[in-house]
Amino acid sequence: MSIPIYTYDAIIVGAGLAGCAAARELQNAGKKVAVITKLHPLRSHSGAAQGGINAAFSDKDSVELHEFDTVKGSDYLADQDAVEFMCQKAPETIRWAERMGAAFSRTPDGKIAQRPFGGQSSPRACYAKDRTGLTLLQTIYEQAHRVGVKFWDEWYAADLIYKDGKVSGVVAFNIRDMQIAIFNAKSVMFATGGYARAFKINSNAHANTGDGLSIVARHGLPLEDMEFVQFHPSGLSGNGVLISEAARGEGGRLFNSKGERFMEKYAPNALELASRDVVSRAIINEIREGRGVGPRKDAVFLDVTHLGKDLIMERLPELRDLAITFLGLDMIQEPILISATAHYSMGGIPVNTAGNVRKNNTEFIEGFYAAGECSCVSVHGANRLGANSVLEALLFGRFVGKTMVSEIDNIELRTATQADAQTALDEINWILQNNGDETVPGLREELQQGMTANAGAFRTKESLAAQIVIINDLRSRFKNIRIQDKSKVFNTELQEAIEFGHMLDYSLFIVESAIARNESRGAHFREDFENRDDENFLKHTMAYMNENGEITLDYMDVVLGKHELKARTY
Ligand code: FUM
Repeated sequence: MSIPIYTYDAIIVGAGLAGCAAARELQNAGKKVAVITKLHPLRSHSGAAQGGINAAFSDKDSVELHEFDTVKGSDYLADQDAVEFMCQKAPETIRWAERMGAAFSRTPDGKIAQRPFGGQSSPRACYAKDRTGLTLLQTIYEQAHRVGVKFWDEWYAADLIYKDGKVSGVVAFNIRDMQIAIFNAKSVMFATGGYARAFKINSNAHANTGDGLSIVARHGLPLEDMEFVQFHPSGLSGNGVLISEAARGEGGRLFNSKGERFMEKYAPNALELASRDVVSRAIINEIREGRGVGPRKDAVFLDVTHLGKDLIMERLPELRDLAITFLGLDMIQEPILISATAHYSMGGIPVNTAGNVRKNNTEFIEGFYAAGECSCVSVHGANRLGANSVLEALLFGRFVGKTMVSEIDNIELRTATQADAQTALDEINWILQNNGDETVPGLREELQQGMTANAGAFRTKESLAAQIVIINDLRSRFKNIRIQDKSKVFNTELQEAIEFGHMLDYSLFIVESAIARNESRGAHFREDFENRDDENFLKHTMAYMNENGEITLDYMDVVLGKHELKARTY
């Protein structure tokens, strides 16, 4: 039976904020666009962003301060041209979102309210209670629909069509019945989100399995700065579900088992509002040194009781509900238990500020774009500031959409053939037919435990080397899996096997990139190299996977600018 081929001007993979914003721009400019998403768009992980979206527009703030905070937060690894672009366009992005219909929380005199967030010199995070991402996602999704974007919901993008240095479409299957199809297009954008599911305790949706990154890597294309994985300070104890930094932004305090407000020791000026890498390591350190709380002594207290019921109900209602649901603790009356949780990936598919994907340090791929968490622009460098990710996704999604509009007419449509679907078909058939004795959930558990223990917020050469051995072992055992469900109807077991293959590949990128970076910078903390080493490592990692699945490393210069290198203290 022949495989159907659908033809569009542009294909977007992923329907979070970046994907919906880009699709809306393209369709609004008269291009024929399809969004392929393995979820319903409103279940995309952008909707889980709680605390805010940054833009400097109050009297006490400035774009330059926003840039400075972002570059300092990044531990000077961010590209300053990209940071400038983002911070300058941030106020306009908020106004655009508002015009599109986003209902932000307001001050009593009717202005958009802004709250403090970690590592920021001024209250800068615009918010919609503690449901900022969801509010924005609902708005932009609705607007994309309004202009006529076609959404292929619950379709899984299994491969990229990349030939002769050009991208010309994707291969996807319908999760409902495994029907495979080719989507032929002049341009393709990946907005496939992050990959913190590789860690045992994480704040990410089950869908965040880094599919886009591994698909790209399997074509021999680079991934940038994969060693930089952010641990958010406040995940609910036990399951890592996000408790927004908004809780600390509004005045929440952290205490250890001795009742000490321990951030006084680690960040005497910023306290709980130091940048995320600093606060997360402080929490883990308190726990490691025996000052943890809770039944397993693996948490610290987050206390917002002094803020009062009215403020909590007005600005943090979702957080309160989450703590009641998962911990049985009401934050109006008592402190809750939190600990660091794998949250965000600073690294990803390397792109320039226009969203063009890099083939290597100097060349770009015709017809291929990326934006949002799956991409590395790099505006976050080694550590992202809270509320800069919703900004990045919305802003770059929109502007990359505009780039695609301007470039699309100069790109020739290349005709897809049935053979383009062969790799995806082979993968599906292999998983359905393989008859080994390993299970995907069993292997995934081992991967996640190992990544948390060996490649988490604290790392050493030895722990990373041990994790490489674990991943290689899991890769060979993965060849020996068996799934129970051999059907073609909503076969989530098959989908999870494909996703796990992706998790294994990008995890190796994380670990190989981390073991080669003999310094500590931002979220990458090497206990055997505790200091930042600008002489040898002020550079981006560019990692490639060869045909044998091995990783090779190259490096690329950081774009420096007016914000000079300094020691980072809070
Ligand atoms: O804490 C939070 O609300 C998360 C925001 C972010 O990651 O930007």
